[in-house]
Amino acid sequence: MEFSAWFSGKSFSTDWTSRFFHTWASLLEARRAEPLEVLEIGSWEGRSAIFFLQYFRNGRLTCIDTFLGSTEHLLRDKWRVELPHVEQRFDSNLAEFGGRVQKIKDTSSRALARLGAEGRRFDLAYIDGSHRSADVLADATSCWPMMNPGGIVIFDDYEWTFFADEADRPKPGVDAFLLRQAGQYRELHRDYQLIIEKARETSRPAS
Ligand SMILES: C[S@@+](CC[C@H](N)C(=O)[O-])C[C@H]1O[C@@H](n2cnc3c(N)ncnc32)[C@H](O)[C@@H]1O
Repeated sequence: MEFSAWFSGKSFSTDWTSRFFHTWASLLEARRAEPLEVLEIGSWEGRSAIFFLQYFRNGRLTCIDTFLGSTEHLLRDKWRVELPHVEQRFDSNLAEFGGRVQKIKDTSSRALARLGAEGRRFDLAYIDGSHRSADVLADATSCWPMMNPGGIVIFDDYEWTFFADEADRPKPGVDAFLLRQAGQYRELHRDYQLIIEKARETSRPAS
């Protein structure tokens, strides 16, 4: 499948994402025609968002981002200089999708608390915001009750080693989350990204 046409004429400074599209497309193919509710934490200039909106033509996407960047973006000049332009690029890149996309400019902790209180439910979540372990664990923990049975959660940067300190990497947060949710999910994929599917029936302890 060729994805590049979806991005032509749009404005990006980076591409952290296209290398995952083939994996996502093969894992998500069975649900492609469904009117899925997709949640994205960490949108940057909208590359992953465009994938989800193009791939799920009947789907809707909720994007959460502060548009302030993450710690790592402040440490490299090539990313830091782009920070003032990221939100404007997101807006123009996503304009064609109109009401199919909801942009929430806020921290994930505040935005997810609000979505939870509103009773929102999702079929797919992409967790690609703050990469600190504690934040990834908090994002996953807040998303999980909002995931419909059979819902899919994609964790980005599971093997990311940009920072030496484990607390600054997603992996310990993802592993802690998986430990807590043992029996409540099925693992679909594990390499640089980790992808799980929420159980359709939750397992209960034998009485
Ligand atoms: C790696 S980028 C996302 C990349 C994007 N998914 C793509 O396909 O290009 C991470 C994004 O998370 C956002 N972010 C970081 N910490 C956040 C937080 N606590 N709440 C909301 N957004 C956050 C940053 O502003 C940044 O835009």
